[in-house]
Amino acid sequence: HKREGLKDFIHISDFDKETIMKILQKASEVKALLKLGDRSFQPFKGKTMSMIFTKPSMRTRVSFEAGFSLLGGHAVYLGPDDIQMGKREETRDVARVLSRYNDIIMARVFAHQDILDLGRYASVPVVNGLTDYNHPCQIMADALTLIEHIGQLEGAKVVYVGDGNNIVHSWLLLASVVPLHFVCACPKGFEPDEKTVEKARNAGISKIDITDNPKEAVKGADVVYSDVWASMGQKEEAAFRMQKFQGFQVDEALMELAGPKAYFMHCLPAERGAEVTDGVVEAPNSIVFPQAENRMHAQNAIMLHLFGF
Ligand code: CP
Ligand code: NVA
Repeated sequence: HKREGLKDFIHISDFDKETIMKILQKASEVKALLKLGDRSFQPFKGKTMSMIFTKPSMRTRVSFEAGFSLLGGHAVYLGPDDIQMGKREETRDVARVLSRYNDIIMARVFAHQDILDLGRYASVPVVNGLTDYNHPCQIMADALTLIEHIGQLEGAKVVYVGDGNNIVHSWLLLASVVPLHFVCACPKGFEPDEKTVEKARNAGISKIDITDNPKEAVKGADVVYSDVWASMGQKEEAAFRMQKFQGFQVDEALMELAGPKAYFMHCLPAERGAEVTDGVVEAPNSIVFPQAENRMHAQNAIMLHLFGF
């Protein structure tokens, strides 16, 4: 096993393929139980979690809090004004204090270094709920959704259209442990981090393409994926980015080029009329809501893994 005893869930690529597939399998099993209304599985009974948010959230907050509670635990939400990590108190102190109250810490932060520091100084597991660099829980949920809809993850052609951001980095890190054909179609100057692209290519198991031609890129896709053009922390660049990303909207014509088997995915929140049209989000082959639901199931399984279940 690759780094079997790993305490935290910070990058998908910290784990080997077997572990990732095991977590996804667990996610399906626990999802099935919960969907049946079975509430007898209470592995988190007696456990508490702190959830640190320095950015807004709907999915991450509610799916972690609901999921942890459905499996018997209690989660504490800490919003941007509560602990003011790095301002009112140093990150390494936050990590050590919360470790004395909680069995696990989940955090959404700006700088990736902050989640690394939390992991380093916390004695309990730390789960990455998005940084400016990556969003591993999202891509685990996406992988689960892909398995449910196309039958398997391995070999899937996933074409991301838009900004080479945190979502793209997590796809690349997944592609460095699970064989995929991952394509990122983005405007020049908005490519993903070069080192992360190299890491995915050097792993030698996936086909990785970076292009500025979305029309070519989407052909034969299993999934066309998009995300906002201005991420949290970049909202003041929104108007400038809107200009730069012309031609990168996922619209009905682009989905037509992708072909009949292509599903549409988006991590949400979506800005209809910008990176995607309302029609594409609402189309029958859009799986954005099952995808959002799977955040909870993927994360439950990630936490079960970290607790050694
Ligand atoms: N996809 C996602 O992480 O959504 P939130 O920002 O609402 O948590
Ligand atoms: N790239 C987006 C994802 C939101 C879930 C952001 O970081 O704002």
